[in-house]
Amino acid sequence: MIYPLEETISRDQRITAMHQLPFVVWMTGLSGSGKSTLAVALEKSLIEKGFKAFMLDGDTIRTGLNKDLSFSESDRRENIRRIGEVCKLMNNAGLIVITSFISPFRSERDLIRSLLPPSDFAEVFVNASLESCEKRDVKGLYKKARQGIISEFTGIDSPYETPLHPEIILNTDKETESESLSHLMNFLLPKISLAL
Ligand code: ADX
Repeated sequence: MIYPLEETISRDQRITAMHQLPFVVWMTGLSGSGKSTLAVALEKSLIEKGFKAFMLDGDTIRTGLNKDLSFSESDRRENIRRIGEVCKLMNNAGLIVITSFISPFRSERDLIRSLLPPSDFAEVFVNASLESCEKRDVKGLYKKARQGIISEFTGIDSPYETPLHPEIILNTDKETESESLSHLMNFLLPKISLAL
């Protein structure tokens, strides 16, 4: 039997110490949809405004914490479950966390939502068509997936479950990076700023 340690520092104490309200911005979308680009830009804008923000990204986590995981369905679920637990810890620490993972399954995205206070979470659907992600193919992975060099590639031979009720949809096919970024900032600033 394991008894979790009771917290000694309250949420309000953390908020006062951090001068901000904690938040998790959960970006989901196909590979190449623009999640990481936007996450990097959002993190930078927040830091420049004096917020304590930290970005978690697929390629970083998959070469470190989750380097034992593949792209099978069960490993993708485990990938997101662990990241959810990391987000929960960072949320308790009072940080603003921005994540950039394909996170293709609704049930795992809903699991993350359930781990956090409702006021502290937003699902952001970075919506670009498979066609445009494949056309850009920044990392050359779609080409490899079509050639059968890599398998279980999201959108090709592995599913992506479109969000049903995301707090924000960014149509990165149609809007510029700075338009998407302002959309995100306008949504986020009132949720993370302490009232004067
Ligand atoms: S997730 O499905 O488990 O959420 P995650 O976001 O961590 O995926 O990792 C996705 C990144 O891994 C992609 O941006 C891409 O660079 C790389 N990748 C390598 N193989 C695959 C694959 N089979 N499917 C999707 N992404 C892959």
